[in-house]
Amino acid sequence: MQVGVLGTGHYVPSKVVTNKDLEKIVDTTDEWIRTRTGIEERRFAEDDVTTSDMAFHAAEQALEDAGLDAADIELILVATVTPDTAFPSVACIIQDRLGAENAAAMDVGAACAGFMYAMITAKQFIETKAYKHVLVVGAEKLSPILNWEDRTTCVLLGDGAGAVVMSEVSEDKGILSFELGAKGAGGKDLFQNKQGYFEMNGREVFKFAVRQMPESTVNVVEKAGYAKEDVDFLVPHQANIRIMDAARERIGISRDKMAVTINKYGNNSSASIPMALSQSVKDGKIKDNDYIVLVGFGGGLTWGAVSMLWGR
Ligand code: UT7
Repeated sequence: MQVGVLGTGHYVPSKVVTNKDLEKIVDTTDEWIRTRTGIEERRFAEDDVTTSDMAFHAAEQALEDAGLDAADIELILVATVTPDTAFPSVACIIQDRLGAENAAAMDVGAACAGFMYAMITAKQFIETKAYKHVLVVGAEKLSPILNWEDRTTCVLLGDGAGAVVMSEVSEDKGILSFELGAKGAGGKDLFQNKQGYFEMNGREVFKFAVRQMPESTVNVVEKAGYAKEDVDFLVPHQANIRIMDAARERIGISRDKMAVTINKYGNNSSASIPMALSQSVKDGKIKDNDYIVLVGFGGGLTWGAVSMLWGR
């Protein structure tokens, strides 16, 4: 059985915070942020908007795009490191709001690779015929965990959510290969500190990422029996344009064949990949029968990649 994506959706808060805005509160420059990361602006959710609010909006869109009712969903997986509360989970909160009364629900925590972990978890349940339709969401409200005393991290992150509905698709479509991995020994380089803030040893994470992202990309392409030249579109985790370019250059594709949302939304952790995927589909950059690769890495350390033939 082939498992793929029936529908996509994404949501970003309306409040835009530019690099120029940050210059007023942090010792930084628009020039530094743009050239070192590729970020021009990001979205911050208002105080009364939660991760589950954004997850709900993205999920509603994905359901509509899939042509399904909430009652058709049998499992909800939400990848997040910024749940509204430890419990109830974001998955349970949106199960109630969507009216998905037939769905089991849980959150998945693998930081920026969380959406890859959640997608592959969904795939197992569908393949074993336990569940027909699974809603997979990546959602983050990272703005409250930014340390405004630390200019090396506070300029990087933004808020948002993305979602997909996963189900059985026709035999020539869907997920062809995947890779998931973790290296707990690297956890000390990217973590939530005792004050609750995002903390990172940027240079160490950068070194890890420029090696892991290209390697995982090539691994899933080889596992699927494809060649690098066959990749039509790459959807990388939006951590840093230089890291994304490293993955892209390894498979030899041009910038226009890579999803880039980091300029407008910054790094959205678990939400980055589904937001970039949904945006690319809506912009017509990913079309039926395209061979695409999704690839991410994050705190844990964790990583994951999926290759698939797009379409139902
Ligand atoms: O999804 C989560 C995973 N996170 C990531 O993938 C991030 C991975 N790491 C990175 O993307 C990069 O390491 C950063 C963008 C975080 C930093 O870029 P870098 O090129 O590695 O810079 P650096 O840390 O080597 O710092 C270079 C200089 C330093 O000044 P000195 O020591 O050379 O005088 C920093 O103090 O840049 C300075 N700097 C800044 N300057 C202006 C650091 N942050 C800033 C800032 N504005 N915001």
